[in-house]
Amino acid sequence: MRSRGRRHVLQALGLAPLACAAGARAGARVTIRLSHVVAQRTPKGLALEHFRARVQALSQGAIQVLLYPNSQLYGDEDEMLALQLGAVDMLAPSLSKFGAVGFPEFELFDLPFLFDSSEQVRRTQQGAVGQELLALLARQSLVGLGYLDNGFKHMSANRPLRAPEDFVGLRVRIQSSRVIAHQMRALGARPVVLSFGETSRALVARVVDGTENPVSNFWTQGMHQAQTDLSLTSHGYLGYCIVAHQRFWDYLQPGDRALIEQALAEALAWGNTIAQRENDAALAALRASGATRIHLLDAVQRQRLRHATRGVHEALALRIGPQWLRRMHGATSSL
Ligand code: SIN
Repeated sequence: MRSRGRRHVLQALGLAPLACAAGARAGARVTIRLSHVVAQRTPKGLALEHFRARVQALSQGAIQVLLYPNSQLYGDEDEMLALQLGAVDMLAPSLSKFGAVGFPEFELFDLPFLFDSSEQVRRTQQGAVGQELLALLARQSLVGLGYLDNGFKHMSANRPLRAPEDFVGLRVRIQSSRVIAHQMRALGARPVVLSFGETSRALVARVVDGTENPVSNFWTQGMHQAQTDLSLTSHGYLGYCIVAHQRFWDYLQPGDRALIEQALAEALAWGNTIAQRENDAALAALRASGATRIHLLDAVQRQRLRHATRGVHEALALRIGPQWLRRMHGATSSL
């Protein structure tokens, strides 16, 4: 269903009762509809499937999770609205998508060359900064339930992207993050915000020339069919925040809430252990396909990209307050 059509459905649905979920199994007392935009065989797709299975097992079938992957129900452009209206109960958007819906502080995670390892990411998310960011979501009656990794992003195009001058003039698809837009402009490229579900087609149609993502997304969306070169820049991090609407959360019985939290904690911990493996497997599959040339960057090349994008950090500090940036840098450098 296209975005416009979906929006009409959302309006028609209003606060439709949860029990009306299509495909709900008879016997389940509570149904949780969880929509996301990536393929099932990705770190996020697999972790959410794990969550579904754990909820099923722990509740002995009394609570069921219906998963809608691959933007099949809602895409980036309307999933938040769907959550607000109660048309879905949980989402797992990338952290980069929270800025556009009123949480620019989440764009801290988009800062180029901020993190060197997943361990740094993990401890930042579990520490004071990460937990305060989750708490901010209450501003819009959202409940932040936890973080999940995909991994480090790389740049693709129909040419290698190893130096700032390689980016000049390229139209690059990005997520709806002002930090990522600034990063692309700093490199001389033109950022084009497109929903994830439209990206592969936009690459095929040459609406855009390049994009950035971890390899698991690049491979499972078939982006390699439209990009001759993938440069392993590891310039930024892609992760997710699992959210529910406060109204849905309050509707649950306390025991059910505790069970869902337990299942989610287990699924996120498991998901974070398999994310790197899934990205490695996608890279091996990509290599074996021979479809896309893969370029490694040396330390000097990465340093030049880092240098070209350093102004992005200060620009974000001006928008969200310097204390956030100081704390984020403090959290990463103390690890
Ligand atoms: C996702 O992994 O959820 C999508 C990332 C993107 O939009 O690039």
